[in-house]
Amino acid sequence: MLYEALKPLLFSLDAETAHEEVSGLMALLAPLPGAASVLSALTGPGAKGLEKTVFGVRFPNPLGLAAGFDKDGRLVPLLPALGFGFLEIGSVTLEPQPGNPKPRLFRVPESRALVNRMGFNSEGARAVARRLAASPKCSVPLGINLGLNKGTEAAKAPAAYAQAFGILAEHGDYFVVNVSSPNTPGLRDLQKVDDLAAILEAVQDANAARKPVLLKLAPDLADEDFAAAIGTAEKLAQGLVVSNTTLSRGGVDAKWAAEAGGLSGAPLKVRATELVRRARSLTQLPIVGVGGIENADDARERLTAGADLVQIYTSLIYGGPRAPKAILRGLA
Ligand SMILES: Cc1cc2nc3c(=O)[nH]c(=O)nc-3n(C[C@H](O)[C@H](O)[C@H](O)COP(=O)(O)O)c2cc1C
Repeated sequence: MLYEALKPLLFSLDAETAHEEVSGLMALLAPLPGAASVLSALTGPGAKGLEKTVFGVRFPNPLGLAAGFDKDGRLVPLLPALGFGFLEIGSVTLEPQPGNPKPRLFRVPESRALVNRMGFNSEGARAVARRLAASPKCSVPLGINLGLNKGTEAAKAPAAYAQAFGILAEHGDYFVVNVSSPNTPGLRDLQKVDDLAAILEAVQDANAARKPVLLKLAPDLADEDFAAAIGTAEKLAQGLVVSNTTLSRGGVDAKWAAEAGGLSGAPLKVRATELVRRARSLTQLPIVGVGGIENADDARERLTAGADLVQIYTSLIYGGPRAPKAILRGLA
């Protein structure tokens, strides 16, 4: 109810400003003893009986927070109170970088969607590792999503991902190699088999502790490229995240066609579900299904299509902090 009351105010602000206000408040509250319990009580009952083990990690439930909401891991102590069974922070780049000029995040409320071209704003791997080292261990499994600094040449990408991984390795329960953001020039080309194999090999060479490494794919790959990337992941990764935001503008007003960036939320639902189904027909690798999940029916459909875990981002913005537990109660 509080979120419904605050939503007009938040939605009157620029989308990134609203996100910063909410995250800033949460980051202030995060270290306070009892803050997580109060937030948990305010967001209502969760659900039991949804535990599962995927890529060797025990998850209290299969609903996670997708990458991009907490890029620098500032909210790790508080976000599990919303009911999430796991968090994925990042994308974290090796070196700090500011990302693209603002404005770079836009709401499309009539489509329950967002368009973003954040461009990997990141405090960088060392700062995030320091923060995680200083925080109590996350109360649910923590994924760390790795991105690439703007301007890193393709030939240097394997070393950059491996170095970022090495800096963060002890702090994550699983890792995601993100080569699928549409907002870093040239990044998605790294989904091609040779580049991809070199990146995953470099990360696995640095992976003495054998942490699960997942590959996050774009929804805009041609069928044969999608299959080829999965073939590479079968040899060199422990799972897939399907999918990132789309360059397509299907399902939103034509005025958004010219706004550069990736589209997320409801318009991505059908495509992302279809890709999970296709990925499942190609591989037994664990799959994290993400894109346009808004309610328990969507989550169930994604799990039935072949996902082992699911994630949300955009529906948290439209549905508010009670959305994750509502999905979980519906799933239970
Ligand atoms: C503002 C914003 C920032 C994002 N940043 C990242 C990111 O840094 N790394 C990443 O892998 N995905 C990022 N994503 C993509 C989400 O993790 C997710 O794949 C996508 O939004 C589809 O899920 P949704 O429809 O539930 O939002 C971002 C999404 C949004 C909306």
